[in-house]
Amino acid sequence: MGGLRDELLIQDILRLKRDKSVYIIAHYYQREEIQALADFVGDSYAMAIAAKNSPHDIILVAGVDFMAETAAVLCPDKIVLTPEPEATCPMASNISVNDVLCYKKKYPESIVVCYVNTPAEVKAVSDICCTSSNAAKILQKLPDNAKVFFIPDQYLGSYLAGKLGRHIDVFSASCPTHASISEEHLLQLKEQFPDAKVLVHPECYPEIVALADYVGSTKGILDYATQSESKIFIIGTECGILYSLGNNNPDKTFILASEELICPNMKSITLDKVFYSLQYLQTRVVVPEEIRAKAAIALERMIEYAS
Ligand code: 13P
Ligand code: SF4
Repeated sequence: MGGLRDELLIQDILRLKRDKSVYIIAHYYQREEIQALADFVGDSYAMAIAAKNSPHDIILVAGVDFMAETAAVLCPDKIVLTPEPEATCPMASNISVNDVLCYKKKYPESIVVCYVNTPAEVKAVSDICCTSSNAAKILQKLPDNAKVFFIPDQYLGSYLAGKLGRHIDVFSASCPTHASISEEHLLQLKEQFPDAKVLVHPECYPEIVALADYVGSTKGILDYATQSESKIFIIGTECGILYSLGNNNPDKTFILASEELICPNMKSITLDKVFYSLQYLQTRVVVPEEIRAKAAIALERMIEYAS
């Protein structure tokens, strides 16, 4: 964390948050100073539920665009703010409405399952949404013979197909941050730390997932490490999670599977931007009502199937 300037900024942020009754929801990949001042920190699914249950009418989402959009879609009567509208997710930006409509035209009976890492307009043409924490549960509830198109993460899609033993058509996008883990380096780390459990996000390459003791969402990784008897872990997801892992487990050691596990978009949200966002109640996330209403169907269906 920074020095005196940051400390004063944090005090100002906490004052503005209180005076304007703003609920701050952050993702585990946020800078630690942002996680520390948030009212709620969670994975994508927990963030969506936290937005729905927000005790205040103004929500600031410290996360990438699809996270803020999800809150705006689920909470039409609330004001949703993003401190950095340019904080995008390259995986989510890689799929378009046309990609889905082309597939649907070819296979009109198919079910389109969209990962939450998608723009709202893509959710609006999908049948059901999911996150990494509930994707398997949701897919298991779909008819066995249904033709499923999973978008946009090819690695999460193929991981789910293998885990559930069913064919799933997948789109071809992926996460550049999780792609930084190399099999060679992970094998070296496993050799160097033979007692370490390997915990990875399903956005990783299949050869990385194959070497893991646990595969799950950011919250899943945190829960696994917290409940485990093991004292040392190799972590295959973005570095921001080390803050919550360390807070929950001060007696355990966490080693990142790659030094490049940094999502620049997540890290583009800073204390200064949060301060500005609260001060001017900017930038408001607005999803056109026609798209919002349709995207809400896919998201509400996710919540129904996941619970
Ligand atoms: P989680 O839902 O597991 O937090 O993942 C979000 C994400 O963007 C992973 O890269
Ligand atoms: Fe998107 Fe990857 Fe960043 Fe997650 S870590 S927000 S999938 S770019």
